[in-house]
Amino acid sequence: MGTCAATRPLTLRESVCPEDQRAVMDVAASSGFFSPEEVEMAGSLVEERLRDGEPSGYFFVFAESGAQTAPMAGFACYGPATYAADWVDLYWIAVHQSRRGAGVGSALLERVEQRVRGPRATTLVAETSSRGQYRPTRAFYEHKGFALIAMMKSFYAPGEHKIIYAKRLAPQDRP
Ligand SMILES: CC(C)(COP(=O)(O)OP(=O)(O)OC[C@H]1O[C@@H](n2cnc3c(N)ncnc32)[C@H](O)[C@@H]1OP(=O)(O)O)[C@@H](O)C(=O)NCCC(=O)NCCS
Repeated sequence: MGTCAATRPLTLRESVCPEDQRAVMDVAASSGFFSPEEVEMAGSLVEERLRDGEPSGYFFVFAESGAQTAPMAGFACYGPATYAADWVDLYWIAVHQSRRGAGVGSALLERVEQRVRGPRATTLVAETSSRGQYRPTRAFYEHKGFALIAMMKSFYAPGEHKIIYAKRLAPQDRP
């Protein structure tokens, strides 16, 4: 596992530092996808993790590069789903606007998948919206092997549905 110092080129880190709160909010805000409340919420997950440690249920992967203007290129946050054995929620995955389409999201997702694979099959769940703005997000999940498993109609607003994607991960191979 890495340290808190930004290194170059792109590195993945799972330890959480106080500075991550601001950086995560910057990444989320840069995307133009999230409301100010959602950006705050992303920061508060870091805060909870720093306060409560692993029992917070929030696990992070940060992608960073000291060589770029925005050292944090992206982050993912995941954790075990409440009361559900072998289901894991992918709460957030976001890549800084300036770093999109360069494999950062793939690297983050790959690391999350490595971490959540266990001795039994695991299902990784990602929620998104049916809004047109999220078409690239849905394309990303579908490209990465997620299947649409549920839709909650008019969840966010009339005509704006919650879309739930899931990816079944085979058990980890034993050495
Ligand atoms: C969705 C997101 C995380 C993807 O990260 P990224 O670094 O841009 O994606 P990558 O460069 O790793 O691309 C991964 C794959 O998805 C595909 N993909 C990415 N964006 C795509 C798009 N707009 N349309 C179709 N396919 C797309 C790529 O072709 C790539 O395929 P490959 O693995 O065969 O090369 C990023 O674009 C993002 O932060 N979006 C805004 C926030 C968001 O929607 N988060 C998720 C909901 S919380």
